[in-house]
Amino acid sequence: MLFRLVLFAVLMAPVPAQTLRDLAGARGVHAGTCAAAGFLREPEYSTVLAREYNQLEPENEMKFGPIQPGPDTFAFGPADALVEFARLHAMRVRGHTLVWHNQNPVWLTKGSYGPAELSAMMKKHIATVVGHYAGKVFGWDVVNEAFNEDGTLRSTLWLDKPGIGLKGTGYIEQALRWAHAADAKATLFYNDYNNETINAKSDAILAMAKDFKQRGVPLDGVGLQMHITLNTDLSTFDENLKRFADLGLIIEITELDIRVPVDANGAATQADLELQAAMYGKIAATCLKYPACQAIQTWGFTDKHSWVPRFFKGTGAALPFDASYEPKPAYTALVKAFAKP
Ligand code: XIL
Repeated sequence: MLFRLVLFAVLMAPVPAQTLRDLAGARGVHAGTCAAAGFLREPEYSTVLAREYNQLEPENEMKFGPIQPGPDTFAFGPADALVEFARLHAMRVRGHTLVWHNQNPVWLTKGSYGPAELSAMMKKHIATVVGHYAGKVFGWDVVNEAFNEDGTLRSTLWLDKPGIGLKGTGYIEQALRWAHAADAKATLFYNDYNNETINAKSDAILAMAKDFKQRGVPLDGVGLQMHITLNTDLSTFDENLKRFADLGLIIEITELDIRVPVDANGAATQADLELQAAMYGKIAATCLKYPACQAIQTWGFTDKHSWVPRFFKGTGAALPFDASYEPKPAYTALVKAFAKP
């Protein structure tokens, strides 16, 4: 009886004629989103996630702190749950992230290790995590956010506080080499924000990528996070994609969200939602121009669980679905951009 009721409910639920994952798939790109293991038990969350997306990236579960809570302790459970959900729904999984300055465990940041010890820890972390997910994760953000806006390298645990003992982009190269050793088939990315247009930061990333390509360092792609606003100037976005594509790199838009001003209830104006939709559509259409651009991934899909209101006060409504899982103009714009020209 219960089964029949459920079946009836499933059959009667309005299902969109076309989904992002089908439309994107037909154009040879992936429709991605980050997801959090804790929300999978929310029926609407898992339904929309599985229905619309064919690429999933754990929002926090694979970061150093959550996944290696002690020097000899790995906690794969929550990330494994996301990987299993993805497998059941024929989604590919993007690993995020192995080497970063944020969300590291206290044992590591407060451990006062020297460069040699830190180097051994980075190696062990990469080998263990990438090894665990070999064959289950198609690619990794091996290093995240290593550059400053002016194109210099960010001062971090891994570079110079105290660093793993390598100069300049040496630690990034080393991380890539260790990741490749752990899973030779994985697609290896460098990922950052504010690198979607031509500026000092993207120039520096491009220069690093050129150097790595010339010397055979296993870098396959660049991730463009794109946590942006309605005021973000995207006039050089297209040209920037072209110069990374020309280098033979894969490009993925990895964390797209377009935050807008919201009131105390989290509501945006209709006018802003239309402007936001136009930007979503433009970004997707530009990505589709380049075979190198292989995924358009948003940082979550429902405004209900977006990181934006917590991190950028007074803003929100940044994603394609509203807090009730209803598609917004941004969703429709993505559908239109993905639909065959
Ligand atoms: C954010 C998560 O969304 C939050 O839940 C967490 O509290 C902080 O990190 N760049 C990244 C992501 O690469 O990992 C960040 O995710 C957002 C910025």
